[in-house]
Amino acid sequence: MRIQQQHFRTIWQQDGRVNLIDQTCLPFELVIKELSDVDQMCHAIRSMQVRGAPLIGAAAAFGLALGLQTAADDDHLQWVAQQLIATRPTAVNLAWAVQRMQAALRAFPVHQRAAHAWQLAQTLADEDVAQNLALGQHGKALIAAQASVRAGSVVNILTHCNAGWLATVDGGTALAPVYAAHDAGLAVHVWVDETRPRNQGASLTAWELAQHGVPHTVISDNAGGHLMQHGQVDMVLVGADRVSRHGDVCNKIGTYLKALAAFDQQIPFYAAVPTPTIDWQLQRPADVPIEMRDADEVAYMQGLTEAGQLQRVRVIPLQSAALNPAFDVTPARLVTALITERGIYTPAQLTALEA
Ligand code: MRU
Repeated sequence: MRIQQQHFRTIWQQDGRVNLIDQTCLPFELVIKELSDVDQMCHAIRSMQVRGAPLIGAAAAFGLALGLQTAADDDHLQWVAQQLIATRPTAVNLAWAVQRMQAALRAFPVHQRAAHAWQLAQTLADEDVAQNLALGQHGKALIAAQASVRAGSVVNILTHCNAGWLATVDGGTALAPVYAAHDAGLAVHVWVDETRPRNQGASLTAWELAQHGVPHTVISDNAGGHLMQHGQVDMVLVGADRVSRHGDVCNKIGTYLKALAAFDQQIPFYAAVPTPTIDWQLQRPADVPIEMRDADEVAYMQGLTEAGQLQRVRVIPLQSAALNPAFDVTPARLVTALITERGIYTPAQLTALEA
């Protein structure tokens, strides 16, 4: 990914430590945090310094490597794994990454585990980048098809939350096809849902699209349906935190409403998902563990004052309660197709990918 023309990943290891871009400081400040133990990584995931399904998978893998620096026997390995898995429940990538690391590391003698943990975490991070780039090429074909239907005029894509490179190690999921299309010279424009309560669209998606030079416009969360009714959206492209084996898509809260409006307007709704985001054990949407986050994320907003000060302000009455479910599930019947690194699949075709 590009930040002021320099190439970055969201997370990387260096001399037994982990560096990451602190997303709670964006879009106003680029802060790199250096972590040296598993507690710091658990805090980074919980507080959303790192966020996005593929990225928290990679972060947990690096967290496990940090955790094994002090001890690597079976009991300690299990304890570190549990700490990491408990940080956030919804994105399946996190538990998947930890369990994959655990299974592989148990095969090594205890004294070799710490070194192997770093290598395995790196492999996992590199795989994420490769998957996202492949997925981007498949998704680009869908945008190119829209461009040819529209005789080369701008393709308008609506996205929700941040499923760009900030949500991954690099490359992005929903935005990977957008970057691929833009880089290939196709005219694209992105409608960016602000994505209350934490504003991942307004603060992160808008920032990274701007860094890459992709035309985009931030809209309030409630504007998408209206734009769809007026022919201003050609496709909806989102990421996912967990996809059921039948193609139900769990993603940031509010995604379901966009899918309903798109279905009503016969606008294609795509979810871009690297295969580690598919939970093959998950049969029913109701079984997705939906994270309930702190109500203060609804009650308060943060922003830059005209004087350039970061400020957090309350936006609801002191007497009012707030509720903050962080994800919802879009049923498979509203999903046109899933874009994976192995190709494009309708929900009904998805099980063909099961290993
Ligand atoms: O709570 P967040 O910001 O971690 O939620 C992230 C999302 O819902 C993304 O859309 C999802 O992880 C897509 S993956 C790139």
